[in-house]
Amino acid sequence: MPSLHTIYASTSGNTEHVVDVLFDHIQETHPEFELSKQRAEEADGKDLLQGDVLLLASSTWNYDAVEGYLNMHMRELLEQRAGDIDLAGRPVALVILGDDRYYYTGRGTERFMQFLMSHNGKSCTMPLIVINDPYGQEGKVKEWGDKLVKQLTINS
Ligand SMILES: Cc1cc2nc3c(=O)[nH]c(=O)nc-3n(C[C@H](O)[C@H](O)[C@H](O)COP(=O)(O)O)c2cc1C
Repeated sequence: MPSLHTIYASTSGNTEHVVDVLFDHIQETHPEFELSKQRAEEADGKDLLQGDVLLLASSTWNYDAVEGYLNMHMRELLEQRAGDIDLAGRPVALVILGDDRYYYTGRGTERFMQFLMSHNGKSCTMPLIVINDPYGQEGKVKEWGDKLVKQLTINS
């Protein structure tokens, strides 16, 4: 049974909403898939090795007053608790949120890609980038979910 483990960080609930829409959609269309999720603040380095495919989801936020970083909890997980993890070619899917009122719009994408490159992760599909209010963008999320499902099937 293909399995997807999601680790997400969400400050005001937008990323959580996107993850929920994605989960509901996959559960509806592919009930045979095993889906699990946990918050970044509750995750440890070894949790990045769960599931056939790992999904990392975070908004772009500021850190120490500098914009363009991942959510604080995601950043701390990736840089500290998972700092020495070897993803050994594991397939990883990425979801990033942002807002075009900020100069570094959606720059969390770059932060995630840097992490994958330095920890031997393999991006298994194009990242889902949701800019501005995700409420109303559910169609885009579901469409991306269909592409992710194909990768899940290939990688399980
Ligand atoms: C303090 C703060 C800093 C932010 N910094 C950025 C940024 O640098 N780039 C960007 O694209 N969006 C930025 N955003 C927008 C968030 O990424 C966006 O509102 C997102 O939907 C929040 O998702 P969340 O509730 O899951 O954390 C920032 C928002 C806040 C409140």
